[in-house]
Amino acid sequence: MRRYSRITGTGSYLPPRRVTNADLVAELAQGGIETSDEWIVERTGIRARHFAAPDVTCSDLGLEAARKALEAAGCQPQDIDLIIVATSTPDMVFPSAACILQNKLGANGCPAFDVQAVCSGFVYALTVADAMIQTGAAKRALVVGAEVFSRILDFKDRTTCVLFGDGAGAVVLEASDTPGILASDLHADGRYVDILCVPGNVAGGAVLGDPVLKMDGQAVFKLAVGVLDKAARATLAKANLTDADIDWLIPHQANIRIMLSTAKKLKLSMDKVVVTVDQHGNTSAASIPLALDHAVRSGQVKKGETLLLEGVGGGFTWGAVLLKL
Ligand code: UT7
Repeated sequence: MRRYSRITGTGSYLPPRRVTNADLVAELAQGGIETSDEWIVERTGIRARHFAAPDVTCSDLGLEAARKALEAAGCQPQDIDLIIVATSTPDMVFPSAACILQNKLGANGCPAFDVQAVCSGFVYALTVADAMIQTGAAKRALVVGAEVFSRILDFKDRTTCVLFGDGAGAVVLEASDTPGILASDLHADGRYVDILCVPGNVAGGAVLGDPVLKMDGQAVFKLAVGVLDKAARATLAKANLTDADIDWLIPHQANIRIMLSTAKKLKLSMDKVVVTVDQHGNTSAASIPLALDHAVRSGQVKKGETLLLEGVGGGFTWGAVLLKL
């Protein structure tokens, strides 16, 4: 009999400091940077984001989300036999945020590692965990997306600093005789490294290059719209399903205009799309599990429904996971 993996619990966490567009406009004005609530809302759909306190790390956010996911799944940290954290803003260069989270959680002993695929990180991590469960390498995985993007923003660059926020989301993924994850489709194209990157690194104890986010927004926008549609169709085809079978689209939350375009191409009305970008901003690898958990806890998405999760971001990376909740 084929072995599947199924989400049995979700959780998420937002740091308490909520920064509205008006707050950010006022803060940026102090540094001589001009922007407006109108511009941010019209071009992105973002109204607010959360920023972590200076001493709060990626694994701290991940820990809160993980505890809620474990509670929802009705299991203890010791029941977990695999931890994968999707992040581009880990606590330190190494060890991984997953190892640090494992220790904070008290789940010591199981394999733990990070996946670095920027805003596609969660669909990558979910696909890896699903594959490990299918082969029997794991039975119950904790898959987390956690980011503190506020640490890598250039608050002198208005084209990027208004877009991102901090947060974490998590799922417990368990072996099951019934699906669960139906299909996934992952891609990367390294020709586009430069359009979205943080080009710094550490050498000799010093940061070399530029340690803040750089983005060619228009280039990313154009690529994102094209590849998301292809990944959605490829994933549906692998599961022998069509766009009519999707109950909910849970896309990466970067820009409402990208979501509108993706939904239109899939002939989905916007009331079938989970939208949290207005309240969370772009939280990179955390955005999909955050949106998923909000939709589950608000009763918007229900057990047994078919969800299409879609991520796209730096690398350039993109992918989709189709699943039955
Ligand atoms: O998470 C990974 C995936 N990331 C994404 O999906 C992001 C994709 N890209 C985008 O979402 C959009 O390209 C942005 C939201 C980043 C930018 O929107 P846009 O409609 O492409 O704007 P633009 O870059 O074409 O800029 C239009 C104008 C420019 O002024 P001029 O040259 O027309 O005079 C910018 O200087 O808007 C100006 N502008 C701003 N004005 C006020 C750029 N940022 C701001 C700002 N406030 N914050």
